[in-house]
Amino acid sequence: MTGGAGFIGSHVTDAFAADGDEVAVLDDLSRGRPGRVDPSVTVFNAAITDADALTEAVEQAKPQVICHLAAQIDVRVSVDAPAADAAVNVVGTVNLLEAARAVGARVLFASTGGAIYGGGVPVPTSEDERPAPEAPYGTAKYCAEQYLALYNRLHGTTHAALRLANVYGPRQDPTGEAGVVGIFCGRALRGERPTVYGDGQQTRDYVYVGDVAAAFLAAARTETPGVWNIGTGRETSVLDLIDVVGQAAGRTLEPEFRPARPGEVLRSALDSARVRADLGWSARTTLADGVREVYRWIEAGSPDRA
Ligand SMILES: NC(=O)c1ccc[n+]([C@@H]2O[C@H](COP(=O)([O-])OP(=O)(O)OC[C@H]3O[C@@H](n4cnc5c(N)ncnc54)[C@H](O)[C@@H]3O)[C@@H](O)[C@H]2O)c1
Repeated sequence: MTGGAGFIGSHVTDAFAADGDEVAVLDDLSRGRPGRVDPSVTVFNAAITDADALTEAVEQAKPQVICHLAAQIDVRVSVDAPAADAAVNVVGTVNLLEAARAVGARVLFASTGGAIYGGGVPVPTSEDERPAPEAPYGTAKYCAEQYLALYNRLHGTTHAALRLANVYGPRQDPTGEAGVVGIFCGRALRGERPTVYGDGQQTRDYVYVGDVAAAFLAAARTETPGVWNIGTGRETSVLDLIDVVGQAAGRTLEPEFRPARPGEVLRSALDSARVRADLGWSARTTLADGVREVYRWIEAGSPDRA
């Protein structure tokens, strides 16, 4: 597991361990925290950009499957520093593919569904739509997917990419747009009003982190190569989300409106029919249940292990 000390990676680590697998984590701890990982799990403190350290750790752990979640995840950082983003998200992934090749491991790559298709596509969006990312982050993820596909052709591997929608859940750092559920829950708990940019009608596909972990598990239990959208297929507007957070908080939240942010994608949701057919996976957690989990987690002081 790369990025296993991060938000999603630590949940994926827990899911594999709970299913009886032996798991090792590689993370440079730039954003991850070792406290999120069960103490019985080995943690290699190394960067995927350091090919030697990465290969050494992979050869020591000898995994059958590597869930690859380590990444530079900030879209705005990718716009400001595209080469640094590509060094982690493209070259780091190639390093990982080479390390996996040395031990014959299969790679399941955390790609993006929210940042790969661009605007102007039908919503919910299927994998048949041609990616047209609008930031270096999405381009790097798409490029990394192409390397996976190349390795499948060149080396006969069965690597797969999971294009994740907007993932939310306990342990998520409430920064940036991806953390909006945590941000709104935190503000509600502090008695503050949620901030809305624009009219609040813009939509996203919020998928619960436990369901994402289940998707990685389902992918690992097959040998099927593929590219799969991992989402709910449902569009939730910012104003709808505020209502759901209000229900968790037990009171109506009054948003504070600010000017729209230029360049923001207005609608986004993923059609996950393909992964349902290929792996039998679908999102099970309702937004109300998932948001309540986040609300309770923040209320409990945002513990690392929750
Ligand atoms: N959160 C979302 O909504 C979302 C949506 C689509 C895709 N993804 C993808 O899922 C994955 C996990 O995202 P997350 O939200 O858990 O983010 P996160 O920042 O919590 O996790 C990423 C982890 O990778 C580690 N890392 C970063 N650079 C590294 C490097 N060079 N070498 C080794 N480790 C490194 C960080 O320390 C962190 O623990 C990422 O690949 C991200 O692009 C996330």
